[in-house]
Amino acid sequence: MKLLVINGPNLNMLGIREPAIYGSGTYAQLLDMIRAHAERRGAEVSFFQSNHEGALVDAIQQAYFDGVEGIILNPAAYTHTSVALLDALKAVAIPTVEVHISDVAAREDFRQISYVRPACIATVTGRGFAGYLDAVDILLKGAAES
Ligand code: DQA
Repeated sequence: MKLLVINGPNLNMLGIREPAIYGSGTYAQLLDMIRAHAERRGAEVSFFQSNHEGALVDAIQQAYFDGVEGIILNPAAYTHTSVALLDALKAVAIPTVEVHISDVAAREDFRQISYVRPACIATVTGRGFAGYLDAVDILLKGAAES
């Protein structure tokens, strides 16, 4: 199964950024963890990160043309603002799991809305980096059942 992990703004700053909320692991360590897990599960995984909304839309569209079968998406702050990401996910109709490192439900009011959630098959929040591994498993399970 061909998976794509897309991370939004400021997630390249993991390890530096608010470690009390996001932990001390770096973005590079996150990718290593996901890569190792996907390998164990026999899935192929690639990665994309951008601080720009349009670049994230482009990556979702490109996933369709690249034959990606599952997307793991942490839209970061764009979760709470972006109709464009929602529309892109609907356009490509690739099974997508929304991931948040922190427990967004326990945070500020402005984080309580997720524009992308209606286009996702599942949401994983508050599991730290392990949430991305859960998302891999959810997508693989979904593919095996369909
Ligand atoms: C986040 C939560 C968002 O509210 C925030 O803007 C982020 C990261 C998370 O992974 O917990 O940048 O998506």
